[in-house]
Amino acid sequence: MGKFRVAWLPGDGIGVEVCEAARTVLEAVGFEAQYLDGDIGWEYWKKEGEALPERTIELLRSTDCAFFGAITSKPASEAARELAPELEGRGLSYRSPIVRMRQLLDLYICLRPSKAFPGNPLNYREDIDLVVFRENTEGMYIGVEFAQAPEGFFQEPAMARIPRDAAISIRSITREGSRRIVRAAFEHAVRHGRRKVTAVHKANVLRATCGLFLEAACEVASQYPQIQFDSANVDAMCMWLLKNPRNYQVIVTTNLFGDILSDLCAQLVGGMGFGYSGNIGDRYAIFEPTHGSAPKYAGLNKVNPLATILAAKMMLEWLGETEKANAVERAVAEVVARGEVRTYDLGGSASTTEMAAAVARQLE
Ligand code: IPM
Ligand code: MG
Repeated sequence: MGKFRVAWLPGDGIGVEVCEAARTVLEAVGFEAQYLDGDIGWEYWKKEGEALPERTIELLRSTDCAFFGAITSKPASEAARELAPELEGRGLSYRSPIVRMRQLLDLYICLRPSKAFPGNPLNYREDIDLVVFRENTEGMYIGVEFAQAPEGFFQEPAMARIPRDAAISIRSITREGSRRIVRAAFEHAVRHGRRKVTAVHKANVLRATCGLFLEAACEVASQYPQIQFDSANVDAMCMWLLKNPRNYQVIVTTNLFGDILSDLCAQLVGGMGFGYSGNIGDRYAIFEPTHGSAPKYAGLNKVNPLATILAAKMMLEWLGETEKANAVERAVAEVVARGEVRTYDLGGSASTTEMAAAVARQLE
């Protein structure tokens, strides 16, 4: 039994296989922890009408951090159809458990590194090494949505052009929410010797919300004169990331833009097989691969587990197990560079477990 208590939440589909793979590597590197299994996912939505049961939230509150695989989510109508008959008609609606966990535990940083491992045949360019700091609790993801806008909204002059049957989603940005994510990005730059932070927004159109985000970003930037600061509109940023990915080191942005940009950045260094995240707050964190539950690959032992193994590396780092984290990263780099064991996305035929075993062997 180790000194850390880790909530273990594989979830649905390939979440199970990739978490198993990460576990092999955590054991190989000698990480000692107590793993506590948590119920989460589609099965609990169907049976209990809640994909993130209360007992799982309590588990999160009593552990040091959590490790999460992936969750299946389906459109509202399908979700309603799959609900157990005795739960019908109670007004239950499916909510994304990962989005809820981020908000409930105030995990305001979504940290997503994209680093090109030398020898990865999927690298868009070599030497890409950037991180996205995505605001993780507010913005477009607050869950304030109306299939039909409440009548009161139409009192607003700006609503004059909007038809009564319009669906509306509200985007909320706060000054403190913006400040703290930008501060986290700058602190990361200082600690990791990064030269520049780039804030991404759409302040030319979303004047209120992105305007506030940009203002807060500039204010925080002025407290870090040793770090370069620039900003870009999100559309232009997508173009520049493809044109000159090496120009960027630390990108900081709001929730939805961060969701989109981090997939783009993952593709620069090999796609979803390499995209991993830390959902980090001041006291708790949840680590996960960025990819979803990929139902069509579930149970096939086929997908690339490196994203999840790298998420485990990030967990080790966050827990202060720096040497073990570095060892895992070196082992992944070595396996990628040698290219003997490759899953299908990398052009090979190795299985999920074989890839994990290769990393584990490298550690030993
Ligand atoms: C991600 C995912 C999630 C998100 C989904 C599954 C709710 O796309 O972590 O990037 O949008 O945050
Ligand atoms: Mg996403």
